[in-house]
Parts: sequence; structure tokens; C-alpha cells
Amino acid sequence: MHKNSHDPMIACLRLAAAATALCGAAAAAEPPRGGAPPVPAVQAFFDATGVTATLDVNGPQPQGAFFQSLGTNGRSCATCHGASQAMGLSAEAAQMRFLATGGQDPLFAPVDGANCPNARRGSPAAHSLLLEHGLIRVSLQLPAAAQYTLTVVHDPYGCALTADPNGGLPFVSVYRRPLPATNLSFLSTIMFDGRETHAPLNAEATFMANLIADLSQQAIDATTGHAQAAAPPTAAQVADIVGFELGLFSAQAYDARAGWLAADGSSSGVRALANQEYYPGVNDVLGADPTGDAFNPAAMTLFSAWGADPDASAARRAIAAGEALFDSFPIQITNVRGLNDNAALGKPAAIAGTCTSCHDAPNVGDHSLPLPLDIGTAHATLAGVEPDPAIAAGLAQLSMPDLPVYLVSGCPDPFGSGAPESFYTSDPGKALISGQCSDFNRGKGPILRGLAARAPYFHNGAAANLDELVNFYNQRFQMGLTAAQKHDLVAFLNSL
Ligand code: HEC
Ligand code: HEC
Repeated sequence: MHKNSHDPMIACLRLAAAATALCGAAAAAEPPRGGAPPVPAVQAFFDATGVTATLDVNGPQPQGAFFQSLGTNGRSCATCHGASQAMGLSAEAAQMRFLATGGQDPLFAPVDGANCPNARRGSPAAHSLLLEHGLIRVSLQLPAAAQYTLTVVHDPYGCALTADPNGGLPFVSVYRRPLPATNLSFLSTIMFDGRETHAPLNAEATFMANLIADLSQQAIDATTGHAQAAAPPTAAQVADIVGFELGLFSAQAYDARAGWLAADGSSSGVRALANQEYYPGVNDVLGADPTGDAFNPAAMTLFSAWGADPDASAARRAIAAGEALFDSFPIQITNVRGLNDNAALGKPAAIAGTCTSCHDAPNVGDHSLPLPLDIGTAHATLAGVEPDPAIAAGLAQLSMPDLPVYLVSGCPDPFGSGAPESFYTSDPGKALISGQCSDFNRGKGPILRGLAARAPYFHNGAAANLDELVNFYNQRFQMGLTAAQKHDLVAFLNSL
């Protein structure tokens, strides 16, 4: 099973960038020739609880296409994916950039860096979702032949639905956090709704080639979309971007209370992460690990040595205790689309699980096979519209942004009788791509490394910090966590 940093395909891509073509499989087996091998570089920055680090296994390359303006609005990939924020974008950094530039930074391009594309540049109110929740507007056309009808019932900014200039179906505005452009060789799904997973990331034999193909298309779409380029980037630019991204590994390096995290027997830190074993299906919770290995709920083992060390400091013991809770605290999973309505599982009303049931990829925390889920984060918070009291109580813990709300009708109730039902959502998730009722509100759980550098959390930035996030889970799944357990879980999440 491969170790990421030594994948020859990545080295190959770096060389290919100069030669304008993606390497074939044969060339990929060749080590880089001529010139010294790349010297890995680590960039480190202070963040909310310590220091975040990003390792570039190919050495420093601040001049690459990832950092160049390839479109018309001055943006590069780094506008929304910066190493100081674990290759994501924190709301705090967006605020600082707004202050420093009076809102003229390319980040605030009205196309998607404002609540609506007709925004007046420089007005904080017109950028409130980006400034307060780190949200970028994602405009997606309603799929043809959708099984449902969708109407807008709450339109706070006036562009929830926009007409297609070519006379087609309307575009729906959803607002999402930039997902980190790092640790990408652990992904099973590209984008929250999977819309850039064109070639599946579900088998080891095809994994790296498909990942490169998906990320290449993603880089093209990001350039014509976010950067408003009139023409797609060249093959050499795309290969340069993808080769760069695939060499990146980000994680928390230092915690203000616990000190260096890659120390005294832990397996934390970016170098260990670059060597973390991963293949599609590793530790799959539903029994699809291709090696036949059973699911091990103890998927996070970074700090287990600290838990076993009686001399470890209180701060380190808290982190290890939080890891143990993540691996083992019992959760009754109910009303989750993708699990509790899953016919292959027998539509179980409740599934006894842990945090790692959904975050199963070892020491990384996404899902090792594609499994979009609806944990409730996209449900509407308009008064009285959420039928599940546990979901309503969970949402009440969050700092929910004021988002457009859509009414969906024409779909069957997925859990019970299958009788027709109507419901409200602020982000249809995969259903906006597939047109299927069964995909409503479903999105991927992201990789959980480098969290401390990139608040807020969830696709819609609704958890302002990790305390809110843990409080959400505590209510959503009626976990009954004590204050001490919440503290330890947060200490652990901040150390990832
Ligand atoms: C204006 C901000 C912005 C810019 C500029 C931008 N991105 Fe993103 N990026 C996002 C957002 C928002 C998402 C998540 C969207 C979603 O899930 O629907 C994302 C998602 C991604 C992902 C998916 C990660 C995952 O876990 O699925 C990758 C990879 C990525 N971007 C790379 C790039 C590259 C490469 C460029 C430059 C060509 C770029 N981005 C430019 C905002 C941006
Ligand atoms: C039923 C599946 C499921 C369970 C159980 C679960 N999660 Fe999640 N988790 C998800 C999904 C899906 C998302 C993405 C939701 C979104 O973006 O709106 C997510 C998102 C997150 C995020 C946010 C990451 C980011 O970059 O924004 C964190 C942190 C997290 N989960 C931690 C936990 C912890 C801690 C537990 C246990 C208390 C847990 N999860 C239990 C499915 C689950």
C-alpha cells in the first residue's frame, strides 16, 4: 500500500510541468533525472492555539502556477488556499484582508466573494457571509430532469435563484467554505458535493491516476470560475498546480499548552502524515476494506503514547483523552441520510457508532470511500421548520449564517413510509448535482487535519469554533458529554 510522499507519479508531475504534458504510467516509474532531488520544505505560522505547518515534499516553490493570476480578477489559487490557514481560508484572515485593502483585495471579487454578484465593492455588508463565516458563493444550475421541485422561501440577499442568460434552468446560490487544498492524496471525494470526482477514487489500482485527472479538471474549473479566466489554463499550468497540491501535507505542529505535538512518542506532525498509509477503503466502516480487514474504531492513534505515559503533562493527557473519546465514545446515529435510509444496510433506525464511524480514514479523518451524509448542518433554522428535535437542538448550538432557504417538494420521506414530504434546506448538497431525492443535504466529511488554522467549520461555516462544533454533536446525537469530555475533545481536534 503506497506511502504518499514517495509516490513517483507526483515527482513525475513536477517534471511534466516543464514539458507541458502529463506523464504516462511508464514514465512515472522513473526517478527524477538530472539535478538534485527536491528538498522538502516546511512553512509554519501561528494560529488560534499554536502553530500550523505545511510540508511541501517537493521543496519551496512560491512562483508556481498555484500562486499566479491566471484569470481576469487578480485571484490565484492562493487567494483562498493559504499555508497560514492549512491551505484553507479562515474568516479571520478574510477580515484582516478586508481591513487592510478596504475590500479591494481580489478575494472580494463580486463573482463569488460577495453575498451576491451585484455587490458594491468595499461595503462590508455586501460581503458579510465571507467576512463573518468565510463563505464563498457557489452557483450551481438546477439539474435537468430533477426528481424534485425547488423554490426559494427566504432570500436575504436577493440572488438565491438567478436566471440562466441562455434561457436554461435557474442557478441556485449555496455558500460554502473553501476546502483545504492539501493532504489531497487521502481524499475519496473532491468538493463537498463530489462534483469534481469525475473518475472514482474507490480502488487502489486507479487511485493516483484518477485523483490527478479529477484535480486537473478541478484546477481548470477553479481558474475559469473563481479567477474568471476567459480561457482554461494550459496543460503545463494545470500539471504544475496539481503536482504542487499533491506534494502538500498540513497539520498542527505546536500547541500553546502541550508544546510540540510531534514529540515523546506521538505520531503527530506533517512528516508522519506524509508517510501515513492510505488506500481507498482503508478501515472502511461498512466492511469494504479491500484487504478484508475489519473496521477498527480506534482510527486515530496519533497521541496514544501520551495517554499511556503517566508522566505526560495535563495538557498532553487531555489531548490523548480527547483522541480516545473520538475513537470510542458511543454515538447513536439517527436520521442521517446516507446511513439510516440506506437500503443496503436495512434502513436501520439507529446505528451504534463513534465519531470514527463517519471519520474512518486512519489519522486523517475523512471517509476512505465516497459516502455523502446529511448530519443536519444544511437544515434550515427558520422557526418551527426542523421536525427532528435533536437536530434542532444541535443547530441551536451553532452560529448559523443567514442563508437563503429553499423549499423542496416532490420527494418521498427517505426514512419511514416513503410518503411524499416537503422540507427546507439551505444547501441541497449532492442532490443539486444528481437531481436525485435520495441525495438531499448530503455532503462529504472533510479531512480533519490542520483544523486550528481554519475556523469556522462545517460546509457553511456554522460552527464558529470547535467548542460550538462539539456542542452541536453533543445535542445532535444526544451524546451526554460532560464539560471535561468536551474540553478534551476540543483539545484533541485543535491538535490535529
Ligand atoms: C474564491 C476562492 C477560491 C479560489 C480562488 C480557489 N478556490 Fe479552491 N475551493 C474554494 C471553495 C469554496 C471550495 C469548496 C467548494 C465546494 O465544496 O463546493 C474549494 C475547493 C477546492 C478543492 C477541493 C478539496 C476537497 O477536499 O475536495 C481543491 C483541490 C481546490 N479548491 C483547489 C483550488 C485550486 C487549484 C485553485 C486555483 C486554480 C483554487 N482552488 C482556487 C474556493 C476557492
Ligand atoms: C454520522 C456521521 C458523522 C459522525 C458520527 C461524526 N461526523 Fe463529523 N462530520 C460528518 C460530516 C458529513 C461532516 C461535514 C458536515 C458539513 O460540512 O456540513 C463532518 C464534519 C466534521 C468536522 C468539520 C471539519 C471542517 O473542516 O469543517 C469536524 C471537526 C468533525 N466532523 C468532528 C467530529 C467529531 C468530533 C465527531 C464525534 C463527536 C464527529 N465528527 C462525528 C459526519 C460525521
